[in-house]
Amino acid sequence: MKKILILNGPNLNLLGVREPGIYGNEGFDSYLQVLNKRFPSLEIAYFQSNVEGELINKLHEVGFSYDGIVLNAGAYTHTSVAIADAIKAIKTPVIEVHISNVFAREEFRHHSFLSPVCKGCICGFGLKSYDLALTSFLD
Ligand code: DQA
Repeated sequence: MKKILILNGPNLNLLGVREPGIYGNEGFDSYLQVLNKRFPSLEIAYFQSNVEGELINKLHEVGFSYDGIVLNAGAYTHTSVAIADAIKAIKTPVIEVHISNVFAREEFRHHSFLSPVCKGCICGFGLKSYDLALTSFLD
């Protein structure tokens, strides 16, 4: 069974509460249950942190043994050379996801330090972005 980590960055613990017009009304915990039902052939682990270094530690921890990482780095997407370096340093492929269509939003969200070092990027499908990323790991 493939092992996949969903790794959520800053402010994503407030999904369902935070700017619902952009990010929707559903919290991630309930959506994770939906994902677990939809992907019985994947072993899905989940970790969220608001702290950049904790995200990097998690990438190092799983990045030599897991089959894939689905990463929503939140605003660190647009600022973090350190997370980009961590993705480059590990062996596990990383898929960048965003709930919102970052290209339809403020210009500072149009640049990602992570996209060039990720296997692919999915954005703009709401929470379904995670579903689409997980689908890419099915055989
Ligand atoms: C986000 C988009 C980022 O620009 C923003 O800072 C987030 C969430 C998204 O999922 O749409 O925190 O990554």
